[in-house]
Amino acid sequence: MCGIVGYIGKGQAAPFLLDGLNKLEYRGYDSAGIAVYDGNNIRVEKTVGRLAALQEKVAGNMPQGSLGIGHTRWATHGRPSDRNAHPHTDCSGDFVIVHNGIIENYLSLKETLIEKGHIFKSETDTEVVVHLLEEVYNGDFESSVREVLRQIEGSYALVFMSKKHPDRLICTKQDNPLVIGLGNGENFIASDIPAIIARTRKTYIVADGELAIVKGDSITVKDRAGNVIDKEIFEVTWNAEAAEKGGYEHFMLKEIHEQPKAVRDTISPRLSKDGSSIVMDELKWDASFLNNIHKVTIVACGTAYNAGLVGKYYIEKLVRIPVEIDIASEFRYRDPIVDDHTLMLVLSQSGETSDTLAALKEAKRLGAKTLAITNVVGSSIAREAAQVLYTWAGPEIAVASTKAYTTQLILLFMLSLYMAGIKGAQSKERIAELIAALEKVPGEISETLEDVEPIKTFAKQYGFNEDVFYIGRSLDYHVSIEGALKLKEISYIHAEAYAAGELKHGTLALIVKGVPVIALATQTDVYEKTLSNIKEVKARDAVVIGIAAKGDTELEKYVDHVIKVPATDTLLIPVLTVVPLQLLAYYAAITRGADVDKPRNLAKSVTVE
Ligand code: F6R
Repeated sequence: MCGIVGYIGKGQAAPFLLDGLNKLEYRGYDSAGIAVYDGNNIRVEKTVGRLAALQEKVAGNMPQGSLGIGHTRWATHGRPSDRNAHPHTDCSGDFVIVHNGIIENYLSLKETLIEKGHIFKSETDTEVVVHLLEEVYNGDFESSVREVLRQIEGSYALVFMSKKHPDRLICTKQDNPLVIGLGNGENFIASDIPAIIARTRKTYIVADGELAIVKGDSITVKDRAGNVIDKEIFEVTWNAEAAEKGGYEHFMLKEIHEQPKAVRDTISPRLSKDGSSIVMDELKWDASFLNNIHKVTIVACGTAYNAGLVGKYYIEKLVRIPVEIDIASEFRYRDPIVDDHTLMLVLSQSGETSDTLAALKEAKRLGAKTLAITNVVGSSIAREAAQVLYTWAGPEIAVASTKAYTTQLILLFMLSLYMAGIKGAQSKERIAELIAALEKVPGEISETLEDVEPIKTFAKQYGFNEDVFYIGRSLDYHVSIEGALKLKEISYIHAEAYAAGELKHGTLALIVKGVPVIALATQTDVYEKTLSNIKEVKARDAVVIGIAAKGDTELEKYVDHVIKVPATDTLLIPVLTVVPLQLLAYYAAITRGADVDKPRNLAKSVTVE
């Protein structure tokens, strides 16, 4: 959370900084600021509110200069306010910094610095870093920054700027993302690639502990010991348009509609030429490796966790290995039973979620074999895991995750088939049948997306209800959980998902006349039982929207409305049923006038514990 940018070169810094922050606003949007050096002084402009407020503030009087840094904030220490907004300056005004992360020992550092006479202007943890730099400054910018890094504890991506050293920016990171864009006579720093992609595709992905001295015409990256590293250039393959709205009103809607392509891109490179088997060249696994795996542990947060619930089902059903699943923030604190016979599967769109990363590190420490499924190449989780499978969903900007979920389901499904093939847990015929069904999924998502009008109508009709329930059994239940999360986070409607058979153990008490219940009924083996549960809520006068596979003529007899998705194998249908749930959440949020892409209190990438 929080987005940071930096510019040094021959052009004007401010336009890049503001544009870069605009692309990073998904990371936090409660205040924003920039600092630009004009050749004599550093001008800092910052304000509470969205980036638009900052843009308005500087319009007509843009800070001039070719060296600058910027920040868009998601508040952790200190409420959103002008003075807590970054960049932060020292007492002299010689140094200025932007920070993403948390300085854990800031209180003790702050006390010491106050005793030494430093005057603090904000309530943030970040401000200690810049005063500490002022305190330890010895005339050498880099060695002074290194001294600061020795004294601070916590997570950070930091950019340091000084008017004493206007030929450079220094940046570094620990547990928070940072990329450097290589330009021509100018260089860029950012939390994420969308901020720089309009200027360059050549990047360095900065690793933990690395420190970069970024000048207009050179970049020197050093390790913790100060040795220069021969850094590999990571060439971004997607283009700037991929990080734009492309004519859609919101990123979320665009990303929902991108799902056929995202899913196809995730499937295609992993199918054998004749389409008869799954190829995972990324993994060097054989039967002996898999036979040594006694259980799989899946760890993730939020939507990725919800995808993991489906993944557990896939692996157990198809590979017949027991699977545990944990919310990442719980995993470390329950003394998990993990050893070298455990395959630890971490799921993360961003690859930067702090709890997921910490769980991964803990599992590694306990000896587990680790595999990450992530969407961001070179992310911290991708680098930390022993093996990685990428979802090729393209950049996901909207805070509410959509295409990351469906591509994660696809990859979990393919991984399960791959493992089942190696272990001989499924017949060749069954695997071929499932691959044939898999290949049809992108087209089936497109078909599902054609039927939007009824969903818009339901959203208008029920968008002002304060409670909505989602029910289903088996995989339908897992998809319900994701549907409820989508509705909660962007429309602020209270939504709960229940295993349909569990309702009568308490929650049925909440079902009264007119309460909307979204009932998924696609799992054939529990279909009749789900119907019984639907009848139970109908008998209490709930308004039921059923979700069924095309060809189902039964469900409509018992519910108020039905949404149908193409019929496919029951294992794959979650990739389709989630689509109307995403759309329902989207249009409910629109009905209520909520800010879909920037829901209150949230940010895209949660890099704090
Ligand atoms: C919900 C959502 C979040 C994320 C969660 C994990 O729509 O986006 O719940 O799924 O914060 O993020 P990643 O997948 O980046 O680890």
